[in-house]
Amino acid sequence: MTILGIETSCDETAVAVYDPRRGLLAHLIHSQIATHAPFGGVVPELASRDHIRKLLPMVDGCLAAAGMAGPQLAGVAYTAGPGLIGALLVGATLAVGLATAWGLPAIPVHHMEAHLLAPLLEADRPEFPFIALLVSGGHTLLVEVAGLGRYRILGQTLDDAAGEAFDKTAKMLGLPYPGGPALARLAGEGRPDRHAFPRPMLNRAGLDFSFSGLKTAVALKARELAQHGVLAESVRVDLANSFQEAVVDTLVGKCVRALEATGLERLVVAGGVGANRRLRLRLMDELTARGASVYYPRNEFCTDNGAMIALAGSLRLRPGAAVPARVEARARWDLEELQQPRESLAALS
Ligand code: KG4
Ligand code: ZN
Repeated sequence: MTILGIETSCDETAVAVYDPRRGLLAHLIHSQIATHAPFGGVVPELASRDHIRKLLPMVDGCLAAAGMAGPQLAGVAYTAGPGLIGALLVGATLAVGLATAWGLPAIPVHHMEAHLLAPLLEADRPEFPFIALLVSGGHTLLVEVAGLGRYRILGQTLDDAAGEAFDKTAKMLGLPYPGGPALARLAGEGRPDRHAFPRPMLNRAGLDFSFSGLKTAVALKARELAQHGVLAESVRVDLANSFQEAVVDTLVGKCVRALEATGLERLVVAGGVGANRRLRLRLMDELTARGASVYYPRNEFCTDNGAMIALAGSLRLRPGAAVPARVEARARWDLEELQQPRESLAALS
C-alpha cells in the first residue's frame, strides 16, 4: 500500500513515500524562495521551470531513501489542483508518466484536502468530525469536516488570504520575501496593543474573513508615523505586533465561533500561517479553556509538502483502480465538489 506523493502546485517541489501501515518512509522538499525572492513574489513561469529541473532527481532520491523501487509501489499520487496551472502540469505529467511506466494507478489529489488531512500524519491525530482552519498564502477557509470527502465550507476570505495579508504588510514594513515568517519574527519584539487595528468581520455574524482593510489600516498608520519616509525600528516592531495580534484575534474568534455553531470539539489548523507561534499559543489557550482540542501537522507539513499528498492519495486509492489514461490538472477546484469515496484501500484508523 506504499504511495509516492508529488506536489508542485506553487513554489515548493516536494516528494514523499508513505505507507498507511508503516508511516512516512521518506520525504523531500525543495523551496523555490531564492528563485522568486528578487521578484517579491512567485513568478509562475520560473516556478514551472524549476519544478522540471528538480522533480525527477527528487523522486529518485526519495525512492532510494525509502528503499523502494517504483514498480513495488501501490500508486502515484499528485496534486491535480488548485494551483498554478503550469506548475501543476509538471507534477501531473510526471506522475502519470511514471504510473503508466510502472503499471500503477495515478491518484489526482485536491491540494486543500491534503492540507486538512495533514495532521493525520502525526501520532496525535484527530478523529472525524472536526473543523479545519486552512490559512495559507492563497486561502483562508473554515471547513466543517464530517469525514473524508465530506466538506462544508463555513467561511472564507472575501479578499486577501491571511498569508497574503502577512506578506503584503511585511513588504510595506521593508521585510524581505516571503514576509510572513519575517513579520512574525519582527513582531516578537513589539507590543501587541500599541495600535488598535480593526478585527475585520469579528463584530459581524458569520464566519467569513476580510484582511485587505486591515492591511490598509497598517499602511495608513505607517505613513503617519514615518519620519522623512523612514520608519524607526521601535515603530516597525509595534506595527508588526499590533498587526499580527489583529489577524490572530480574528482567526481565533472565528474558530471559536465555528466550534460553537457546529457543536464540534476538535480544530485542525493547516497551511503556512498555521506555523505562526502567536496563533498557536492563542488557540491553545482559548480552546483548552473551552474543553476543545487543537491539532497541527508538524511545522514542515504546515506548508506545502509531498507527505500530505501521499497520505491523501492513500485514502483516495480505490481497490482495482486502473492505470491512468489522462492527466488531470485544474487551476481552480472547489473543495465542496469532492465526494466521499465509496471504498478506499486504506483504513482511516
Ligand atoms: O501553505 P503555504 O506554504 O503556501 C501556500 O500559500 O499554499 O503558505 C505560505 C504562507 C505565506 O503567505 C507565508 O508568509 C505564510 O504562509 N507564513 C506565515 C508564517 N509562516 C509562513 N505567516 C505568519 N506567520 C508565520 N510564522
Ligand atoms: Zn498549500
